[in-house]
Amino acid sequence: MNGYLELGLFLPSTKGGLVMARNLPSEREATWGLNKEVVLAAEASGMEFALSQVKWRGYGGESGHWDGAQESFTLMAGLAAVTSKIKLIASVAVRTINPAVAAKMAATIDDIADGRFALNIVAGWNKFEYAQMGLWSDDDYYLNRYDYADEYLTILRRLWTEDGVTFDGKYFKLEDCRSNPKPKAPLKIVSAGQSEGALAFVARHSDYSFIGRMNDSAKQLGELARKIAGLAADQGRSVTSYTLLNVVAGRTHEEAEARKAKYMADRDEVAIEEWLRVSGFDKNRADYQTLPPETTTFMSVPYIVGSHEKIAAHLDSLAQYGVGGVALCFPDFEKDVPDFIANVLPRMASRQNAMIRT
Ligand SMILES: Cc1cc2nc3c(=O)[nH]c(=O)nc-3n(C[C@H](O)[C@H](O)[C@H](O)COP(=O)(O)O)c2cc1C
Repeated sequence: MNGYLELGLFLPSTKGGLVMARNLPSEREATWGLNKEVVLAAEASGMEFALSQVKWRGYGGESGHWDGAQESFTLMAGLAAVTSKIKLIASVAVRTINPAVAAKMAATIDDIADGRFALNIVAGWNKFEYAQMGLWSDDDYYLNRYDYADEYLTILRRLWTEDGVTFDGKYFKLEDCRSNPKPKAPLKIVSAGQSEGALAFVARHSDYSFIGRMNDSAKQLGELARKIAGLAADQGRSVTSYTLLNVVAGRTHEEAEARKAKYMADRDEVAIEEWLRVSGFDKNRADYQTLPPETTTFMSVPYIVGSHEKIAAHLDSLAQYGVGGVALCFPDFEKDVPDFIANVLPRMASRQNAMIRT
């Protein structure tokens, strides 16, 4: 297989991005200005999409990691107005917005974007984001989160296509509910997650699925992508698998490694401890296991450190194994995005026809 690899940005809409360290450029508060600048650059280079995450609470420490996060729908509405080709993906935390409200917000942004809008469904894993606003009092929500998301998406789809929706579910009740305007075409649905519930949800509802744990090889990702495609095919559907990648690049291998060494030296231990605590890795627990420092500094997300050539080769190998696309994140978006466009993109065999396709 020698496929084409779609590329997009995992936007700098959260303070600190995917590196939990002090003294980073991304430690500055996330701004509209930076998000607009990098999305326009990505669009001009032929990249296909941009995704912003939804985050309601961060981890403190000196870096204030994720303490600030732009709201995903409003950010994407702004970006929809200033772009013309790139697909825009907002994230909805299903616990926070009634589906009838989200249906109309999404249809409105899709109108602004002229059909370029898609929705990332976030079932929610982090109780402390939602409990602070009184939206997670039931302790079994985590176990049922994909049932809840399933009902939510069933409602969204019906509101996008039907005139008056009556629905009597376990979590939602609608009575002749109206939602206009409707999107001109069905909105694409994106989701992430590899738990059993997440995979069942992906097979039933998603068009794009984000997969990948930190040390997964391109081959393992390809195998998982095929497994997901098979689960979707059983339901008469097709799903393309993407992955997330944090890119630490340098002109040489040594330069990139020096960047990584600095992040490791500047690890924000306080923010990391809080992130681990709310993720179920409380160090006071008897079964607490220490994680490798790279895992925590880079938030357990796949990352690559290396020269432009090494990064281009890795992305090409993802395409060869059947991964459909990659959402790119960087420690310093302002400098790293132009650097990636100038020095990595032209080296990628899996992007040779990018401008012709867009
Ligand atoms: C590309 C990508 C985007 C994500 N966006 C969000 C987000 O906006 N908000 C959030 O709380 N979690 C987000 N997540 C986490 C997933 O929604 C999911 O909770 C996580 O992968 C755990 O999966 P699980 O539910 O199968 O355990 C994202 C993950 C990926 C890979």
